Amino acid sequence: MADPKTVLVTGVSSGIGREVAALFGQKGYRVFGTSRQPERCPEIPEVALLPLDVRSDQSVTECIRAVTQEAGGVDILVNNAGYLILGALEECSDTDAVLQFQTNFFGAFRMVNAVLPGMRERGYGRIVNISSGAADFAMPFEGLYSASKAALNLYTEGLRQELKHTGISASVVQPGFILTSIRENRAAASMNMPAYSIPKDRFEKAYSRYLEKGGNPEKVARTVLRIARAGSPRFRYRVGYDSRLLELRRFLPDWLVQRLVRLYFGID
Ligand SMILES: NC(=O)c1ccc[n+]([C@@H]2O[C@H](COP(=O)([O-])OP(=O)(O)OC[C@H]3O[C@@H](n4cnc5c(N)ncnc54)[C@H](OP(=O)(O)O)[C@@H]3O)[C@@H](O)[C@H]2O)c1
Repeated sequence: MADPKTVLVTGVSSGIGREVAALFGQKGYRVFGTSRQPERCPEIPEVALLPLDVRSDQSVTECIRAVTQEAGGVDILVNNAGYLILGALEECSDTDAVLQFQTNFFGAFRMVNAVLPGMRERGYGRIVNISSGAADFAMPFEGLYSASKAALNLYTEGLRQELKHTGISASVVQPGFILTSIRENRAAASMNMPAYSIPKDRFEKAYSRYLEKGGNPEKVARTVLRIARAGSPRFRYRVGYDSRLLELRRFLPDWLVQRLVRLYFGID
């Protein structure tokens, strides 16, 4: 690549972020990847590791400063860092809710605001927010996660409208189930109420089954690369048949969607 673009991928210690960073590294991009504990993060060829906690303004500022000093700025930002909280909404404290949004929503928001001035100056930028199929319906027992991803989708759509004609695009990637460490890395809701234990247990078993049969994170990485290479990237990219199936939602009444979700997760 004559003039390699600089890519910053958040959360490369495992799963999707790791595959995205590795693929861009292989393709000759200049890649920076982040982790809250880069010293514990396995090395990825051609990827420079930086510390970053997206919940912290200071950490975000320092990360962007480091990339700007090294490479002049961020051309492609991939907001991948995220996690989920398992628990009924009633079992979640307000702190659980704040923390979930601090990472999945405000984390991306902070990163975008930190890179936009440089992108605007150069008249070029690609913002890729890793959302989820779960943004299109409320996952039972992962309701905060769905809410945070739905917020991320609308935020990205707003950004895209406001950045039209600036050379900067904003897109969401909505993967279905992808086999990563997301289950091991998740948090539990603050409370555990006996009233929810049976349906939550059923949900958990179905969820684990779907995840084990989930797609390869490399599929998501290839989609992010397509966005980076596209002349004018679309707003939404779905990955996996389960995510694509959610397109049908707009043709179905809400009660039917909710019934199908309960059947799918075996909680009725
Ligand atoms: N797996 C799926 O089925 C699936 C489906 C749809 C969407 N997604 C989305 O894809 C993204 C990646 O998930 P994954 O499945 O690859 O899970 P994962 O293997 O658990 O990876 C999550 C990454 O996020 C980073 N992270 C978490 N909290 C962070 C914070 N506060 N600050 C900075 N980094 C943080 C972690 O890095 P450190 O712990 O090293 O900091 C880790 O590298 C998430 O946004 C997730 O919601 C996943």
